[in-house]
Amino acid sequence: MKLAIRDLEIGFGDRRVVELAELDVAAGEIVGLVGESGSGKSITALAVLGLAEAAGARVTGSIELDGRELIGAPPSQLREIRGSRIAMIFQHPVSAFNPVFRVGEIFLRALRLHGASRAKAVERARSALAEVLLPYELLNRYPHQLSGGQAQRVAVALAVALRAEVLIADEATSALDVTVQAEIVELLARLRELEGIAILFISHDLAVVGQLCDRVAVMREGRIVETGRTERVLHAPQDPYTRELIAAVPRITAGRTA
Ligand SMILES: Nc1ncnc2c1ncn2[C@@H]1O[C@H](COP(=O)(O)OP(=O)(O)OP(=O)(O)O)[C@@H](O)[C@H]1O
Ligand SMILES: [Mg+2]
Repeated sequence: MKLAIRDLEIGFGDRRVVELAELDVAAGEIVGLVGESGSGKSITALAVLGLAEAAGARVTGSIELDGRELIGAPPSQLREIRGSRIAMIFQHPVSAFNPVFRVGEIFLRALRLHGASRAKAVERARSALAEVLLPYELLNRYPHQLSGGQAQRVAVALAVALRAEVLIADEATSALDVTVQAEIVELLARLRELEGIAILFISHDLAVVGQLCDRVAVMREGRIVETGRTERVLHAPQDPYTRELIAAVPRITAGRTA
Protein backbone atom coordinates (compact mmCIF):
# COMPACT_ATOMS: atom_id res chain seq x y z
CA MET A 1 0.00 0.00 0.00
CA LYS A 2 1.41 3.34 -1.04
CA LEU A 3 -0.60 5.64 1.16
CA ALA A 4 -2.44 4.25 4.19
CA ILE A 5 -4.49 6.47 6.48
CA ARG A 6 -5.81 5.04 9.76
CA ASP A 7 -7.81 6.61 12.59
CA LEU A 8 -7.00 10.09 11.41
CA GLU A 9 -8.46 12.77 13.64
CA ILE A 10 -8.13 16.45 12.87
CA GLY A 11 -9.42 19.19 15.13
CA PHE A 12 -9.43 22.95 15.38
CA GLY A 13 -9.66 23.95 19.03
CA ASP A 14 -12.53 21.94 20.52
CA ARG A 15 -14.03 21.18 17.13
CA ARG A 16 -13.20 17.86 15.54
CA VAL A 17 -13.55 18.17 11.77
CA VAL A 18 -12.13 14.84 10.60
CA GLU A 19 -12.55 11.36 12.07
CA LEU A 20 -11.39 9.11 9.28
CA ALA A 21 -11.12 5.41 10.10
CA GLU A 22 -9.45 4.11 6.96
CA LEU A 23 -8.40 5.29 3.52
CA ASP A 24 -5.83 3.65 1.25
CA VAL A 25 -4.40 4.56 -2.13
CA ALA A 26 -2.26 1.92 -3.82
CA ALA A 27 0.42 2.56 -6.44
CA GLY A 28 -1.19 2.90 -9.85
CA GLU A 29 -4.58 3.54 -8.34
CA ILE A 30 -6.82 6.61 -8.53
CA VAL A 31 -9.09 7.08 -5.54
CA GLY A 32 -11.79 9.75 -5.53
CA LEU A 33 -12.64 11.65 -2.36
CA VAL A 34 -16.03 13.34 -2.60
CA GLY A 35 -18.42 15.01 -0.19
CA GLU A 36 -20.12 18.28 0.49
CA SER A 37 -18.32 21.53 1.15
CA GLY A 38 -16.74 21.56 4.61
CA SER A 39 -16.75 17.77 4.98
CA GLY A 40 -13.00 17.72 5.56
CA LYS A 41 -11.49 16.77 2.21
CA SER A 42 -8.91 19.55 1.90
CA ILE A 43 -7.78 19.44 5.51
CA THR A 44 -7.27 15.68 5.11
CA ALA A 45 -5.10 16.37 2.06
CA LEU A 46 -3.12 18.96 4.02
CA ALA A 47 -2.62 16.45 6.82
CA VAL A 48 -1.14 13.98 4.33
CA LEU A 49 1.29 16.67 3.23
CA GLY A 50 2.13 17.49 6.84
CA LEU A 51 0.73 20.99 6.44
CA ALA A 52 -2.42 20.75 8.59
CA GLU A 53 -0.62 21.77 11.77
CA ALA A 54 0.68 24.86 10.03
CA ALA A 55 -2.99 25.71 9.38
CA GLY A 56 -3.66 25.49 13.11
CA ALA A 57 -5.01 21.94 13.28
CA ARG A 58 -4.31 19.19 15.78
CA VAL A 59 -3.66 15.89 14.01
CA THR A 60 -3.55 12.40 15.50
CA GLY A 61 -3.66 8.89 14.06
CA SER A 62 -1.58 7.33 11.36
CA ILE A 63 -0.61 8.31 7.82
CA GLU A 64 1.88 5.91 6.31
CA LEU A 65 3.76 6.27 3.05
CA ASP A 66 5.16 2.88 2.07
CA GLY A 67 4.98 1.80 5.70
CA ARG A 68 6.73 4.92 6.99
CA GLU A 69 4.77 6.98 9.51
CA LEU A 70 4.38 10.63 8.58
CA ILE A 71 2.51 11.89 11.63
CA GLY A 72 5.06 13.10 14.12
CA ALA A 73 7.94 12.68 11.67
CA PRO A 74 10.69 15.28 12.05
CA PRO A 75 10.10 18.47 10.03
CA SER A 76 13.24 17.91 7.97
CA GLN A 77 11.96 14.51 6.86
CA LEU A 78 8.53 15.91 6.08
CA ARG A 79 10.05 18.69 4.01
CA GLU A 80 11.88 16.11 1.97
CA ILE A 81 8.78 13.98 1.46
CA ARG A 82 6.45 16.87 0.72
CA GLY A 83 6.96 18.18 -2.75
CA SER A 84 9.04 15.22 -3.83
CA ARG A 85 7.52 11.86 -2.90
CA ILE A 86 4.07 13.38 -2.35
CA ALA A 87 3.04 16.14 -4.72
CA MET A 88 -0.10 18.21 -4.71
CA ILE A 89 -2.01 20.10 -7.34
CA PHE A 90 -4.58 22.70 -6.44
CA GLN A 91 -7.63 24.36 -7.91
CA HIS A 92 -5.66 27.51 -8.72
CA PRO A 93 -2.09 26.47 -9.50
CA VAL A 94 -1.20 29.86 -10.94
CA SER A 95 -1.45 31.41 -7.49
CA ALA A 96 0.33 28.42 -5.92
CA PHE A 97 3.45 29.12 -8.00
CA ASN A 98 5.83 31.80 -6.87
CA PRO A 99 5.03 34.66 -9.29
CA VAL A 100 8.54 36.14 -9.44
CA PHE A 101 10.11 33.04 -11.01
CA ARG A 102 9.77 31.81 -14.54
CA VAL A 103 8.42 28.27 -14.91
CA GLY A 104 11.92 26.99 -15.73
CA GLU A 105 13.33 28.45 -12.53
CA ILE A 106 10.49 26.91 -10.52
CA PHE A 107 11.46 23.51 -11.94
CA LEU A 108 15.17 24.00 -11.35
CA ARG A 109 14.73 25.22 -7.78
CA ALA A 110 12.39 22.36 -6.86
CA LEU A 111 14.59 19.71 -8.46
CA ARG A 112 17.83 21.09 -7.08
CA LEU A 113 16.27 21.37 -3.62
CA HIS A 114 15.68 17.65 -3.84
CA GLY A 115 19.21 16.89 -4.84
CA ALA A 116 19.40 16.90 -8.65
CA SER A 117 22.41 18.47 -10.38
CA ARG A 118 21.72 21.41 -12.68
CA ALA A 119 22.18 19.34 -15.82
CA LYS A 120 20.00 16.55 -14.46
CA ALA A 121 17.34 19.09 -13.43
CA VAL A 122 17.22 20.62 -16.93
CA GLU A 123 16.98 17.18 -18.49
CA ARG A 124 14.18 16.09 -16.17
CA ALA A 125 12.22 19.32 -16.67
CA ARG A 126 12.49 18.82 -20.43
CA SER A 127 11.21 15.25 -20.40
CA ALA A 128 8.48 16.01 -17.85
CA LEU A 129 7.12 18.83 -20.02
CA ALA A 130 7.14 16.50 -23.01
CA GLU A 131 5.25 13.91 -20.99
CA VAL A 132 2.43 16.35 -20.22
CA LEU A 133 2.50 17.56 -23.84
CA LEU A 134 3.68 21.09 -23.15
CA PRO A 135 6.18 22.91 -25.40
CA TYR A 136 9.63 23.37 -23.93
CA GLU A 137 9.55 27.13 -24.48
CA LEU A 138 6.93 27.36 -21.75
CA LEU A 139 9.82 27.23 -19.30
CA ASN A 140 10.51 30.86 -20.20
CA ARG A 141 7.10 32.07 -19.11
CA TYR A 142 5.97 33.46 -15.79
CA PRO A 143 3.11 31.68 -14.01
CA HIS A 144 0.64 34.47 -14.81
CA GLN A 145 1.36 33.94 -18.51
CA LEU A 146 -0.08 30.42 -18.38
CA SER A 147 -3.68 29.47 -19.06
CA GLY A 148 -5.50 27.51 -16.36
CA GLY A 149 -5.03 24.25 -18.24
CA GLN A 150 -1.34 24.94 -18.91
CA ALA A 151 -0.78 25.77 -15.26
CA GLN A 152 -2.32 22.43 -14.22
CA ARG A 153 -0.11 20.65 -16.73
CA VAL A 154 2.94 22.43 -15.34
CA ALA A 155 1.94 21.35 -11.81
CA VAL A 156 1.58 17.75 -13.02
CA ALA A 157 4.90 17.99 -14.91
CA LEU A 158 6.58 19.15 -11.73
CA ALA A 159 5.24 16.08 -9.93
CA VAL A 160 6.56 13.90 -12.78
CA ALA A 161 9.95 15.61 -12.74
CA LEU A 162 10.24 15.09 -9.00
CA ARG A 163 9.30 11.43 -9.46
CA ALA A 164 6.41 11.80 -7.02
CA GLU A 165 4.85 8.52 -5.94
CA VAL A 166 1.65 10.03 -4.61
CA LEU A 167 -0.24 12.90 -6.19
CA ILE A 168 -3.03 14.67 -4.36
CA ALA A 169 -5.29 16.64 -6.65
CA ASP A 170 -7.62 18.96 -4.72
CA GLU A 171 -10.33 20.28 -7.03
CA ALA A 172 -7.64 20.32 -9.72
CA THR A 173 -10.11 20.39 -12.58
CA SER A 174 -12.89 22.44 -11.00
CA ALA A 175 -11.78 25.83 -12.27
CA LEU A 176 -11.30 24.65 -15.86
CA ASP A 177 -13.78 24.67 -18.69
CA VAL A 178 -15.13 21.31 -19.77
CA THR A 179 -12.74 20.66 -22.68
CA VAL A 180 -9.64 21.51 -20.71
CA GLN A 181 -11.02 19.53 -17.78
CA ALA A 182 -11.23 16.48 -20.01
CA GLU A 183 -7.61 16.99 -21.11
CA ILE A 184 -6.38 17.10 -17.52
CA VAL A 185 -8.43 14.01 -16.62
CA GLU A 186 -6.85 12.21 -19.56
CA LEU A 187 -3.42 13.38 -18.47
CA LEU A 188 -3.91 12.05 -14.92
CA ALA A 189 -5.09 8.72 -16.28
CA ARG A 190 -1.99 8.57 -18.50
CA LEU A 191 0.27 9.44 -15.61
CA ARG A 192 -1.09 6.59 -13.56
CA GLU A 193 -0.53 4.32 -16.56
CA LEU A 194 3.01 5.50 -17.32
CA GLU A 195 4.36 6.24 -13.88
CA GLY A 196 2.24 4.00 -11.67
CA ILE A 197 1.60 7.00 -9.48
CA ALA A 198 -1.00 6.79 -6.69
CA ILE A 199 -3.57 9.58 -7.05
CA LEU A 200 -6.02 10.90 -4.47
CA PHE A 201 -8.51 12.87 -6.53
CA ILE A 202 -10.62 15.28 -4.48
CA SER A 203 -13.58 16.64 -6.36
CA HIS A 204 -17.13 17.89 -6.21
CA ASP A 205 -17.72 16.62 -9.69
CA LEU A 206 -19.12 13.09 -9.59
CA ALA A 207 -19.14 12.88 -13.38
CA VAL A 208 -15.37 13.44 -13.52
CA VAL A 209 -14.86 11.07 -10.59
CA GLY A 210 -16.89 8.48 -12.49
CA GLN A 211 -14.60 8.77 -15.50
CA LEU A 212 -11.29 8.78 -13.69
CA CYS A 213 -11.38 6.95 -10.38
CA ASP A 214 -11.05 3.24 -9.64
CA ARG A 215 -12.49 3.63 -6.19
CA VAL A 216 -14.30 6.40 -4.42
CA ALA A 217 -14.70 7.38 -0.79
CA VAL A 218 -17.63 9.54 0.26
CA MET A 219 -16.95 11.91 3.12
CA ARG A 220 -19.51 13.53 5.35
CA GLU A 221 -18.77 15.62 8.41
CA GLY A 222 -15.25 14.27 8.52
CA ARG A 223 -16.14 10.58 8.24
CA ILE A 224 -16.10 8.21 5.31
CA VAL A 225 -19.73 7.09 5.02
CA GLU A 226 -19.22 4.87 2.00
CA THR A 227 -16.36 3.50 -0.05
CA GLY A 228 -16.03 1.03 -2.90
CA ARG A 229 -15.42 0.58 -6.63
CA THR A 230 -16.53 3.73 -8.42
CA GLU A 231 -19.06 1.88 -10.59
CA ARG A 232 -20.69 0.32 -7.57
CA VAL A 233 -20.77 3.47 -5.43
CA LEU A 234 -22.16 5.67 -8.22
CA HIS A 235 -24.67 3.17 -9.56
CA ALA A 236 -25.72 1.25 -6.47
CA PRO A 237 -25.02 3.59 -3.54
CA GLN A 238 -25.69 2.05 -0.13
CA ASP A 239 -25.53 5.10 2.07
CA PRO A 240 -28.43 7.57 2.05
CA TYR A 241 -26.00 10.47 1.92
CA THR A 242 -24.28 9.08 -1.17
CA ARG A 243 -27.70 8.70 -2.80
CA GLU A 244 -28.42 12.31 -2.00
CA LEU A 245 -25.12 13.45 -3.53
CA ILE A 246 -25.77 11.45 -6.68
CA ALA A 247 -29.36 12.59 -6.95
CA ALA A 248 -28.05 16.14 -7.16
CA VAL A 249 -26.28 15.24 -10.42
CA PRO A 250 -28.88 14.32 -13.07
CA ARG A 251 -26.23 13.27 -15.60
CA ILE A 252 -25.08 10.35 -13.49
CA THR A 253 -28.44 9.02 -12.41
CA ALA A 254 -29.43 9.15 -16.06
CA GLY A 255 -26.78 6.53 -16.74
CA ARG A 256 -23.21 6.67 -17.91
CA THR A 257 -22.46 6.75 -21.58
CA ALA A 258 -18.65 6.50 -21.42
N1 LIG B 1 -7.63 26.91 9.24
C1 LIG B 1 -8.81 26.50 9.73
N2 LIG B 1 -9.27 26.93 10.91
C2 LIG B 1 -10.45 26.50 11.42
N3 LIG B 1 -11.27 25.64 10.82
C3 LIG B 1 -10.87 25.17 9.60
C4 LIG B 1 -9.64 25.57 8.99
N4 LIG B 1 -9.51 24.91 7.81
C5 LIG B 1 -10.62 24.16 7.67
N5 LIG B 1 -11.43 24.30 8.75
C6 LIG B 1 -12.71 23.62 8.97
O1 LIG B 1 -12.54 22.24 8.74
C7 LIG B 1 -13.68 21.70 8.09
C8 LIG B 1 -13.26 20.99 6.83
O2 LIG B 1 -12.77 21.93 5.90
P1 LIG B 1 -12.18 21.50 4.50
O3 LIG B 1 -11.57 22.70 3.89
O4 LIG B 1 -11.33 20.32 4.68
O5 LIG B 1 -13.51 21.10 3.70
P2 LIG B 1 -13.64 20.58 2.21
O6 LIG B 1 -14.33 19.27 2.28
O7 LIG B 1 -12.35 20.66 1.52
O8 LIG B 1 -14.67 21.65 1.60
P3 LIG B 1 -14.74 22.23 0.10
O9 LIG B 1 -15.44 21.18 -0.69
O10 LIG B 1 -15.56 23.47 0.24
O11 LIG B 1 -13.36 22.51 -0.38
C9 LIG B 1 -14.62 22.87 7.86
O12 LIG B 1 -15.59 22.87 8.87
C10 LIG B 1 -13.74 24.08 7.96
O13 LIG B 1 -14.46 25.16 8.45
MG1 LIG C 1 -11.64 21.74 -0.12
